[in-house]
This record gives sequence, structure tokens and C-alpha cells, in this order.
Amino acid sequence: MDELITDQLGRPLRDLRISVTDQCNFRCAYCMPKEVFGPDYAFLPKVEILTNDEILTLAHSFAELGIEKIRLTGGEPLLRKDLISLVARLAKLALVKDLSLTTNGTMLPRFAKDLKESGLSRINVSLDGLDPIVFKRMSGGRGEPKAVLDGIEAARKAGLEIKVNMVVKKGVNEGEILPMVRYFRDRRITLRFIEYMDVGNSNQWSSNDVLSAREILDTIEKEFKFQPIDPNYKGEVAARYRYSDIPAEFGLINSITKPFCSDCNRARLSADGQLFTCLFAASGHDLKSVVRSGASQLELTEYISRIWKARKDRYSEERSATTGSKKKIEMSYIGG
Ligand code: GTP
Ligand code: 5AD
Ligand code: SF4
Ligand code: SF4
Repeated sequence: MDELITDQLGRPLRDLRISVTDQCNFRCAYCMPKEVFGPDYAFLPKVEILTNDEILTLAHSFAELGIEKIRLTGGEPLLRKDLISLVARLAKLALVKDLSLTTNGTMLPRFAKDLKESGLSRINVSLDGLDPIVFKRMSGGRGEPKAVLDGIEAARKAGLEIKVNMVVKKGVNEGEILPMVRYFRDRRITLRFIEYMDVGNSNQWSSNDVLSAREILDTIEKEFKFQPIDPNYKGEVAARYRYSDIPAEFGLINSITKPFCSDCNRARLSADGQLFTCLFAASGHDLKSVVRSGASQLELTEYISRIWKARKDRYSEERSATTGSKKKIEMSYIGG
């Protein structure tokens, strides 16, 4: 099957985000609040989680339909035991030009070198502040900023390209915006600010907790000059800005105040093999059952093709007061 498909809104399938585990060593209040994700939380049983062989089979079909980028996510992807061999196998897929991973960074000192040697080209690290107290208010009391910075340093030494993601929650970590800009600008690392999103149903999201992209830019402008620059590729989620005085940039992911659904070419595969056509979907399409039923590669490709062709999602553009109470999957399950 050699066909480049588009959905109902004319959007191609280009980017596949694969969640490899629903577990995490952090409990960020905006993602896995500890009141919900406590000791009794029912994480996915091991038998439900796709094996590396099954992920590879699915990735082959997605690549035939146009996927050029694969991003591994979690929960925390580095908690998966056989992750390095998965990376090595995905890196060999001929049609995939860009293989990356999103992580909280704490396990990078142990894995950065192996990831690079297995063929990973870049990583995005989540870090919501440099101040240890503010950091812990965001991470649910887990980890230390120093551990994440050590992880970033290990990744740099290993030769991985790095971006840092900072979720901004009003009244909690906006005081960290300028310290973060100073730190990562000096090191020429791209820092991206993410508007706090209404993903899932467990984080008690309220629009009052969102610091808008405009407010974030106003804060940075107090100290630095910058100008907008073009996206790296069509459908990039972050709006890019270049500092006027040095060759470094930062970005803003404005899902709340400036939605980017019209170019959204992302499919998401959960650790248990459900395909979601939107981060805010209520339910997925069960690819695991299709793979485990012994379907041929062609049958699988056709099945995914039918799902993509029927896709109409544009949640962020339709967001309204009423969508908040809708049932949605959790960020830690779908990997952001
Ligand atoms: P690059 O390939 O480096 O551009 O990475 P990315 O920004 O696509 O991936 P990353 O995992 O770093 O995601 C950063 C943030 O953007 C996360 O909070 C994601 O949830 C959010 N994000 C990514 N894709 C989408 C999307 O399609 N819709 C929405 N609403 N948010 C998204
Ligand atoms: N809103 C915005 N970003 C979020 N992330 C997790 N939950 C949310 C949320 N509710 C971010 C993480 C990570 C990325 C994959 O998603 O911090 O950088
Ligand atoms: Fe873990 Fe990332 Fe969710 Fe924080 S945002 S709980 S680090 S998966
Ligand atoms: Fe894509 Fe859904 Fe995000 Fe819109 S809200 S950009 S359709 S994932």
C-alpha cells in the first residue's frame, strides 16, 4: 500500500507519538495529581502493554501511511525496561526521518549515551522551574531540579539535540520564567513554554490557572529582545522566537489561546495499543486487538488508514465552557 492519506479536514498523517508506559516517577499536579494517582491507582497490567515486536509492526504500517516522525512518550518512557532495544529497532525504519523522546530527565544520566548509540537523535525534557521548592510544587514533591539539569548535561555530552518544556501554572511557577530563560539561553538550549491545558479529568483544570502566551511574552520582554521566526516544519506545535542578540531561540505552545488544530498531523498510540486521533479524545481505536488477532501487515495498514480518513478532531479550536466536563483520556496515559 503506497498511499498518502488525509483526514476529513485535509490533514495528512505525519507524526506518531507512542506511549511506552503509563507509569511515572513524578506526580505533576497538572498531569498525575497524587490524590488520584496514589498507591491504589490501577496502572495498565503488563499483559496489556504492547511488546516491542507489536510496536514495530504498528510502526511499519504507520510509516507506509506517511509517518516521518516518531516520538516516544510515557508516563516516563525511560521506566520501560526494554526501551533501548525498541529505540534501536525504530531507528532502523527507513521511512522515519526523526526519532525523539519526551522525558522528565531524571534517568538520563543512566541512559543518555545508550539512547544516542541506539539511534535516537533528540530529546525534549520537561522542567518547570529551577527553584527546588517551586519545582516540587509542580512535580508533586518528587525529584530535584538538580537531577533534571544533570540529565540534560548527560544528554548534551552524549550528543543528543535537546529542548526543554516548561508548563506554566499561574500563581505557582511564573516567577521561574525569567530564571529559566536566562539559564537555557546561556546554554543555547531551546526552552518552550506550554500553556497549562485541560487534558484529562483529574487535574482540576481551571482557566484561572492558565498564564497566557501573551503574558509569558510580556514577562520575557522585560529583560530580552526577540522576534518571531518561521516554524521548522508545517504543523509544528510551538511558535518560535529568536533572541535579538545571540543565536538562540525559545518557543510557546499556545493550545489554549492560539489553537493549532488546522495543521494537526499527529496520531497517538497508547501503551496498550489504542490509537487516539486527538489528545483530548474520549476513546481510542483498539489496534492491539487487531495486531494480536494475527492480521496481516496490509490489513493493519488498511485499518489505520480508514480511521485516519474519518478523522475530524479539532478539540482546541472548539474548546468552550462546556467541553471541560467531557470525558477525556489522561495525559500520563497518552503521553502528551
Ligand atoms: P518537537 O518535535 O520537538 O516539535 O516536539 P513536540 O512539541 O511535538 O513534542 P513534546 O512532547 O515536547 O510536546 C510538547 C507539548 O506540546 C506537550 O505538552 C504536548 O502535550 C503538547 N502537544 C503536542 N502535540 C499537541 C497537539 O497535537 N495538541 C495539543 N493540544 N498539544 C500538543
Ligand atoms: N498541560 C500542559 N502540558 C502538560 N504536560 C503534561 N500535562 C500537561 C497539561 N495539563 C506536558 C509535560 C511534558 C509534555 C509531554 O506535556 O510537562 O512537557
Ligand atoms: Fe510524569 Fe511527565 Fe506527567 Fe510529570 S508531566 S507526571 S513527569 S508524565
Ligand atoms: Fe490536534 Fe486535538 Fe491538539 Fe487539535 S486538540 S492540535 S486536533 S491533538
